Amino acid sequence: MIPVHVAIIMDGNGRWAKKKSLPRTFGHRQGVKTVKKIVKAANSLGIKVLTLYAFSTENWKRPENEIKALMVLLKYFLSKEIDELSREGVKLRILGDLSKFSKDIKIEIDKACKRTCNNTGLELNIALNYGARQEILQAFEEMLKQGIKKPTEATLSSFLYTAGQPDPDLLIRTSGEFRISNFLLWQIAYSEIYIVDKLWPDFTAQDLENAIKNFENRQRRFGGIVLEKQ
Ligand code: FPP
Repeated sequence: MIPVHVAIIMDGNGRWAKKKSLPRTFGHRQGVKTVKKIVKAANSLGIKVLTLYAFSTENWKRPENEIKALMVLLKYFLSKEIDELSREGVKLRILGDLSKFSKDIKIEIDKACKRTCNNTGLELNIALNYGARQEILQAFEEMLKQGIKKPTEATLSSFLYTAGQPDPDLLIRTSGEFRISNFLLWQIAYSEIYIVDKLWPDFTAQDLENAIKNFENRQRRFGGIVLEKQ
């Protein structure tokens, strides 16, 4: 069966640019093109939720010019590219603490989410200033505020940025690194992990299909055992 929710750690933009002797920001620019291609492919394949890790809580440590370039690209994506994706039925949700973003980015986020909120196609989550530990902490703060003293797993899930969405079935990481990087720690408890050597700007719709084929051949047991047919 095709995964309902696919999450991707888009890694390798910098290395892609370096290999071509270009500034790192060129890698991010190419990375946005890949984002658009993969969102469209996921939507056509019938994936219900796609979560992309675009900017982590730790990414603020990068040089100022790189952060600036990422913000420009983000604004471009939210103001320009989202229209076409919206026409295809994509519904946008942002995961993360948005308080650190500038006013103009917050306005674009708000506009893009409102523009797509009635769409019924792919639910596209973009993780921005996202960190899973921060996400879990803010969930606990909110539960305490609401006087919830004995949360269940379902209660906690309902206070995460992904509230109401199923957990990822498949987690893909590009550029060959075997790390989770503080991404969706709670939600990936039973996700299948697929690491691909390609750098994110080189990742194609075919690569996504390969990951899905690989996923379809896995036996998911969720901690149980697979019973042999009698
Ligand atoms: C990892 O590559 C990539 C990022 C930290 C940013 C991902 C951002 C984009 C694909 C573009 C912005 C996205 C949207 C949705 C507008 P890296 O820079 O860590 O690469 P490296 O590990 O090779 O240095």
